[in-house]
Amino acid sequence: MSTTNLAVIPGDGIGPEVTAEALKVLEVAANIASGSASAGPVKFEQTRYDLGAERYLATGEVLPESVLAEIKEQDAILLGAVGGKPNDPNLPPGILERGLLLKLRFELDHYVNLRPSRLFPGATSPLSPAVLDKGEIDFVVVREGTEGLYTGNGGAMRVGTPHEVATETSVNTAYGVERVVRDAFARSQARPRKKLTLVHKTNVLVNAGSLWWRITQQVAEEFPDVTVDYLHIDAVMIFLATDPARFDVIVTDNIFGDIITDLAAAITGGIGLAASGNINSSREFPSMFEPVHGSAPDIAGQQKADPTAAILSGSLLLEHLGRPEAAAAIDAAVLADLSERGPEPRTTSEVGDAIAARVVG
Ligand code: NAD
Ligand code: IPM
Ligand code: MN
Repeated sequence: MSTTNLAVIPGDGIGPEVTAEALKVLEVAANIASGSASAGPVKFEQTRYDLGAERYLATGEVLPESVLAEIKEQDAILLGAVGGKPNDPNLPPGILERGLLLKLRFELDHYVNLRPSRLFPGATSPLSPAVLDKGEIDFVVVREGTEGLYTGNGGAMRVGTPHEVATETSVNTAYGVERVVRDAFARSQARPRKKLTLVHKTNVLVNAGSLWWRITQQVAEEFPDVTVDYLHIDAVMIFLATDPARFDVIVTDNIFGDIITDLAAAITGGIGLAASGNINSSREFPSMFEPVHGSAPDIAGQQKADPTAAILSGSLLLEHLGRPEAAAAIDAAVLADLSERGPEPRTTSEVGDAIAARVVG
């Protein structure tokens, strides 16, 4: 039995509801003996952190330094979602997103934001049969997680006047681009099709575009068996709607990856199924696993949220911890549940129970 110290940040809105189900399924999967890192069951030693809108509104705290220091010492993090009620005058946009979620991604150096997109048998895609017949949808987006437009570089001048100027500067470093591109090549190489698509907008964003392009060409020399392709971000939107089977691994910057992965979720059964891992591939800091969706204030507290994305994020967590068989058991349980989903609505916890019951070693 090996012990994994797990930080749990349920967060806001539907975050606590879906996190409870992810933990339920993780506990069952943890009992499956597997993995090369250390065989035998895993014991999760959970520490819960009540961070998010409620804490901020009550105390003004978003992520105290002492809490961040504690989280840095954990083995992994499971996060639900952050974001308060829309238009709350006491909670300006960005306070929690920047101060909590992005702060964790940046401080823990989560440079690989891994977002798999697979149309599971049993899940329903809004795409037409003609598009779906072109091939299986099974790709991975490797989204850069620590740079780009997300760094908070920019400012506002003459705010509120007709002469207001607002800027956000995209920061791209050779170091940051190279490490995420190399990670994406390695992931492509490990997959059967060995294909990598770099996505950018090199025809307009010529500085950052040139850097991403050159580094991709350079790193490609180390991976001669990987086929490299390039698409502009706008064209990717076309192909996600008309021929998503063409994608295998996509590597891209922070904002393009954010946008691609919501559309990718929509075509593979919806945002309720899309999982992600914020990975520190060098393993200096704990990685963080979370659904791609947000706090969904419109359905929060009603047991209407689909917990599958959170549950599949638990599978990515186990995979990262060197437990591929336990991860596969979760994927198989989700697949079985999806193929038997009928038209009748189920509560969040009913879905969690049904998936947990199907996890077998
Ligand atoms: P959202 O993902 O929360 O919701 C978009 C739509 O999808 C809503 O109609 C919602 O009901 C639905 N939805 C989302 N998850 C679902 C689930 N599991 N099951 C069923 N339906 C689901 O995006 P939004 O409305 O743009 O953002 C709401 C808040 O969440 C904002 O404060 C935003 O900043 C934050 N946010 C946080 C994260 C995160 O924590 N990683 C991600 C995205 C948005
Ligand atoms: C996501 C979210 C976040 C992002 C926001 C809430 C900061 O949309 O995880 O996709 O833009 O990365
Ligand atoms: Mn997003």
